[in-house]
Amino acid sequence: MALDVLRAADDSRAALYDATSRGLRAAAKELPTVWLYDERGSRLYHEITQLPEYYLPVREGEILRARVGAIAERTKAQTLVELGAGDAKNTRFLLDALEGAGTLECFVPFDVSEAMLRGSAQAIGDAYPQISVRALVGDFERDLGGIPPDGRRLIAFLGSTIGNLDPARRRRFLATLATRLGQEEALVVGLDLVKDAARLEAAYNDSRGVTEAFVRNALANANRELDATFDQRRFAYEARWEPEHGWVNIGLRARQAHSVSLGRLALTVAFEEGEPLRVEISSKFQREQFAAEVARAQLRLESWWTDAGGDFAVALVTRDEHHVE
Ligand SMILES: C[S@@+](CC[C@H](N)C(=O)[O-])C[C@H]1O[C@@H](n2cnc3c(N)ncnc32)[C@H](O)[C@@H]1O
Repeated sequence: MALDVLRAADDSRAALYDATSRGLRAAAKELPTVWLYDERGSRLYHEITQLPEYYLPVREGEILRARVGAIAERTKAQTLVELGAGDAKNTRFLLDALEGAGTLECFVPFDVSEAMLRGSAQAIGDAYPQISVRALVGDFERDLGGIPPDGRRLIAFLGSTIGNLDPARRRRFLATLATRLGQEEALVVGLDLVKDAARLEAAYNDSRGVTEAFVRNALANANRELDATFDQRRFAYEARWEPEHGWVNIGLRARQAHSVSLGRLALTVAFEEGEPLRVEISSKFQREQFAAEVARAQLRLESWWTDAGGDFAVALVTRDEHHVE
């Protein structure tokens, strides 16, 4: 088993600091989602995936189990790249099917969290000794150019991570991906679907408070790395479905007026009482909307599979060779 952990780009940290500074100075303040995923955050996310309220991974697993045969047959992928791989649990359905089809040679998990990436790359390497594993540390919004072009690739983007991007960022992401996807290559995406508000909000307001701890960890992570003074007691946790945007808005709200300094960014940020700080969005999708988004990127929604209850979808996306501007 070959396990390489490579860095997709050296300047990702500088770009993150820049985005953080811009996010905190914006009229509607936000902290980039990447702050959620240090070692502790990745462990907390793993715990979230086990919560009864967080139906997403189970539904995605059900769909993949039923459809990976068709995906393997259609794509005949030699390399499986996974963006935001995390613990790569549902990925194993794809790995099993591609290995069973006899085409798979290499797995490339790509994630911003190096600790998580090392653990899951090692576990996959041990479980699938006949393939090589080349892990890449990077930001999928910036570093897609670091992904090796070798072999016929299937690019997986599971767990509805695409929903963490707002429409403008999804547009840029899909457009960049489209320029890198070869004629015979494909993208498989997991997408959480629009459903009633109570279930959507329950998924991010779990009874054990794991999601709150996960979101608050972004402040702790920023405090440590940016020499910042976010005080948890001065913020309340909040996750609300916003139908006008089609996303669950997940973050914190200042309980009182106060200032936070970020030494490393040479920045002081003033919060008013009740002012929100967005940490993450989780967009929810509908088929027509997603088909239009991929078409705009000159891609084609080739297949769309949902679970029996219509909670979640897995989409197979390929290049649109007949696209006319
Ligand atoms: C919602 S979790 C999904 C994890 C896994 N795919 C699953 O389905 O359980 C998002 C994953 O993407 C990673 N991630 C978040 N933002 C990223 C970025 N900008 N670039 C690369 N990885 C990122 C996180 O570290 C985390 O592992």
